[in-house]
Order: sequence, then C-alpha cells, then structure tokens
Amino acid sequence: MRKVGVLVSGRGSNLQAIMDRIADGYLPLEIAVVISDKSDAYALERAQKAGIKAAAIERKACASKDDFEAKINAALTDAGCELVVLAGFMRILSANFVNKWHHKIINIHPALLPSFPGLHGQGQAVAYGVKFSGCTVHFVDEGTDSGPIILQKVVPVMDDDTEDTLADRILVQEHIAMPEALKLWAEDKLVINGRKVKVLA
Ligand code: GAR
Repeated sequence: MRKVGVLVSGRGSNLQAIMDRIADGYLPLEIAVVISDKSDAYALERAQKAGIKAAAIERKACASKDDFEAKINAALTDAGCELVVLAGFMRILSANFVNKWHHKIINIHPALLPSFPGLHGQGQAVAYGVKFSGCTVHFVDEGTDSGPIILQKVVPVMDDDTEDTLADRILVQEHIAMPEALKLWAEDKLVINGRKVKVLA
C-alpha cells in the first residue's frame, strides 16, 4: 500500500473523510503519519483514535521556517511517505520544501481556483457575489494555490449565504473530492503536463 503523510492545522474533517474511505476499502492508501502545526488541533485526536501516528510540529518551537520545514520533512521521510496531503494545513510551504516534494504535494482549497486563493476562499466568494463556487484539489507548486488542478466540485451560492453557510455546502463536496483525487493518484491515473493534469481512464 502506498504511504502518504497528511498535514493539518485544525478540526480535520478532510482527514476524517480520507480515513473513512481507507477504512471502507475505497482508497488503496496508508496514512503513515499525520502532522499538525497546532498542538491542540482536533485532527491529531482523530488520527490517534484511528491508531495513526500523529505529531505536532509547531513553528514557534522551531528556530526558523527552514528548521520547521526540515522537521516536517524528516517526519514524512522517516514514515516512508510518497505523497504529502494538505488537508486544511494553513501555512504556505517554502519553494525549498515544495521543490523537495515536486508534484508530490496535493492540497484542497475551498474555492474554484484560480478564483479566491489564499485565506477565506468561501468568504471571498460570498463577498464577490459569484453564483457558483466549490472546491479544488490540486498539486502544489511554488505559488499560493496555483498548482496544476486535479479536480473541482461546484456548488451554487445562494442569495442569503454567509461565509459559514457556503463553507458548509462546500465542505460536503471537499469530503468527496479529496478521496476521489487521492484514489486517482494511488492508481497512477494522474499525468501532469505543464499546468494540465490528464486523468487516465
Ligand atoms: C477546509 O475547508 C479546507 O478546504 C480549508 O480549510 C478547511 C479545513 O477543514 N483549507 C484552506 O483554506 C487552505 N488554504 P478541516 O480541518 O475540517 O479539513
């Protein structure tokens, strides 16, 4: 089974969706380690409950960003990970880290990229007045939410939506999109050609 590491910062509902789809046999993967940049992230508890190795690596406990990322890199490498999954990881990784894991980092973003990158993708969509938004699963490059797109799911934006109501609607789709993208990766069905990701049948 191919091993992945999951980086998280918070409640970990996307991590839970991945764990659930591994448990029910849909996803042929093993989560070798879960790493959080916040020691109180509920995602860590979810991992521990499932018997998955979990660790907090906090930026403030490290001498520099380089040191922080070196520790994350070591934890992923020690666990034998082939892929890094960003599941609500709220930090920008440096070009140095991204280049070490070239085309081996997958992120989920709560908007239809390239619209509304960065923080509060759902709030940005509501404020802009778009009629549709959604989520994007993509490979990570050196930019912010700018790497090659694997798949997207679309949801309508309602007139009375707030950031929170739209986030809830998008989250349902995130929990479908991330396992779907990881399954395609695990089965070697993703071919990256420049900005484009071809999905093999
Ligand atoms: C998700 O909505 C994810 O798309 C978003 O954080 C949330 C994490 O939820 N990620 C980003 O905004 C990354 N820029 P979770 O901890 O319940 O999976």
